[in-house]
Amino acid sequence: MTTDHRDPVPPSAPEGPQAERTPGWWKSAVVYQVYPRSFADSNADGIGDIPGITSKVDYLAALGVEVVWLSPVYRSPQDDNGYDISDYEDIDPTFGSLADLDALIAALHARGMKLVMDLVVNHTSDEHPWFVESRDPASPKRDWYWWRKPRQGFQAGAAGAEPTNWASFFSGSAWQLDEQSGEYYLHLFSRKQPDLNWENPEVRQAVYAMMNRWVDRGVDGFRMDVINFISKQPGLDDVPAVPGRPFAAAGERFANGPRLEEFLQEMNTAVRLDERHLLTVGEMPASTIDLARSITDPAKRGLNMVFTFEHMNVDAQPGGTKWDIAPLHLPALKQNLAAWQEGLAEVGWNSLYWDNHDQPRAVSRFGDDSPEHRVNSAKTLATVQHLHKGTPYVYQGEELGMTNTQFVDISSYLDIESVNHYSDAMSLGLEAETVLSSLAVRSRDNARTPVQWDDTSHAGFTQGIPWLPVNPNYVYLNAVAAQADPDSTFHHFRRLIALRRELPVVVDGRFELLLPDHEQLWVLTRTRGDQVLLVVANCSSLPVTVPAGVLPDVTGARLLLTTHAGAETAELQPWESRIHLIG
Ligand code: NOJ
Repeated sequence: MTTDHRDPVPPSAPEGPQAERTPGWWKSAVVYQVYPRSFADSNADGIGDIPGITSKVDYLAALGVEVVWLSPVYRSPQDDNGYDISDYEDIDPTFGSLADLDALIAALHARGMKLVMDLVVNHTSDEHPWFVESRDPASPKRDWYWWRKPRQGFQAGAAGAEPTNWASFFSGSAWQLDEQSGEYYLHLFSRKQPDLNWENPEVRQAVYAMMNRWVDRGVDGFRMDVINFISKQPGLDDVPAVPGRPFAAAGERFANGPRLEEFLQEMNTAVRLDERHLLTVGEMPASTIDLARSITDPAKRGLNMVFTFEHMNVDAQPGGTKWDIAPLHLPALKQNLAAWQEGLAEVGWNSLYWDNHDQPRAVSRFGDDSPEHRVNSAKTLATVQHLHKGTPYVYQGEELGMTNTQFVDISSYLDIESVNHYSDAMSLGLEAETVLSSLAVRSRDNARTPVQWDDTSHAGFTQGIPWLPVNPNYVYLNAVAAQADPDSTFHHFRRLIALRRELPVVVDGRFELLLPDHEQLWVLTRTRGDQVLLVVANCSSLPVTVPAGVLPDVTGARLLLTTHAGAETAELQPWESRIHLIG
């Protein structure tokens, strides 16, 4: 890695080849998410970096993914592992340099692959020069953030003086007092992540100019962090209080505001997102199907697709937070995805994901990570995901069937959300054991343990000490072992990805969910002309018999992919799945 992070080459003069982007190319692509901190470390500092990613590009090409989405590598104090950006124009030295990024882009483009950058513009770091300047009430940048006086009748800093009763996603108030001016600023995430004020046109123009510089540099699109929070509901009012709690979740006040689509259209025009066929995916907690349809309607010039959170909430208690865990009821999960399929069938496009850096590992959550069922449940979950209609996202290690980690002590957790939740829960008098058991299931650190490359020390992730401990199961669960085993999850993912290239019905076949109420079977069809793909998946750890006479006849059909070679009987083994091509 170079030490000079400022690249002498001006951003408008990228060196590597540009990717060819045809209209709608992202519909037939599979995206692979890299969380750089945990992917591959090239310089033995224990933290993954860009040269580490470049060294694995051939691995990604072998898997067959076409796009890499890179979680933030910009300059950052790393309060939220890079989602707190202090310089949008530069790379954090932890991860390398602009020259390293150019080399990664060139390596991807040379293999016909593309790079999508994370775009975090709902907020900056409090160390971003814009915010530093904004702290001065007389500064022209004061209005670039949400500054408010204490609540009427309250002294700044007194309990209850926060301008509204909104809770931050990372516990505590969403407002932080700045002693210098006696005013509060809004931060929906950590206090080091102040929210930008998108109502101010200068903010918007600054963001678009920055995006244009990245496109000129060669990037092929953007994954937009909590993009539906950029338009807040006017007024910034209180939400109904939660008994016994000083602050309350306030998504209804700051998500999906009235100017969201206007801002996205303006961005689309200013950055020529559509004209340049850039991939755009908006992370949108609290988005509805109707809103997603409108935002992804090509005629409205918003985004290509959004990340919904609805299916991430099916295993939480209704009305509770993510920490209030409920058992998974399979019909709820499949019916939710089917509703999105139906809602975006004619207009718009879906993104498909189980895993990312904010969610526990899917095989531990929706599958069965016991030694007996881990591989088949990881494969079957992938089959179901990739055979819905939309663009699939694979999160690093998902293709290996990586599992949740096994931290038993709060001191092992590093994620700001987990650490803050624990201390908040302790101050409210909750049992440590209860909180630790929900952290074990839900903490974001589950997804952030280093990628397990081989069975050498630290799983081949680093020559140093990894910033977060490697999952001990790396000794048998690693990329080298998976690539060598033709029956591994890796090769199952590879075959699924190849199927999408071979068969247009995987990309655009009409979706239908069969047996919606069945508690073990997930059955769906995709239809294109005379061709029907039938997916029959046992999403449970018990055998199940397919009810007679209710599924399309598979006599003469081709079995494209299965988890269990051998007899195709009416009984499916635990986590057995089959993809048939009829016609
Ligand atoms: C969503 C990101 O995925 C998450 O990791 C981050 O903490 C928040 N947005 C704040 O940027």
